[in-house]
Amino acid sequence: MTSGMPEDYRGSYLHKGADYGSDLSAGDINTYMTHCENRLLRKLVPRLFPERVPRYLDFACGTGRVTQVTEPMAMQSLGVDVSPNMLEQARQRCPSTQFFQIDITQGHL
Ligand SMILES: C[S@@+](CC[C@H](N)C(=O)[O-])C[C@H]1O[C@@H](n2cnc3c(N)ncnc32)[C@H](O)[C@@H]1O
Repeated sequence: MTSGMPEDYRGSYLHKGADYGSDLSAGDINTYMTHCENRLLRKLVPRLFPERVPRYLDFACGTGRVTQVTEPMAMQSLGVDVSPNMLEQARQRCPSTQFFQIDITQGHL
């Protein structure tokens, strides 16, 4: 925070990356919620898209935490995030996904 102005949320992950992933594997409530989300995705996505998801977009994808679960269930997988550090992790995790560094509030798509 500078000069009394709240930090812009878009900037809050610019310098995060690998540490975001390690935060989520710390064995706390966030780890538990991630585990539950992954189980639900693996159960619900094939039920909703038995032939695979035609085109999947993870906006504000971060490190690809959700993308890596959904990517194998999609014919085309896309990820968008404003943070280059988060995207660097996502690209390593999700080799079949195309990632774009975009601020989704700015209407570039
Ligand atoms: C809490 S993290 C969540 C990441 C991922 N969706 C997950 O569930 O693990 C929020 C992400 O939103 C991204 N983000 C915030 N504002 C954004 C914007 N305007 N355009 C694109 N990405 C944005 C941040 O860079 C960050 O990676």
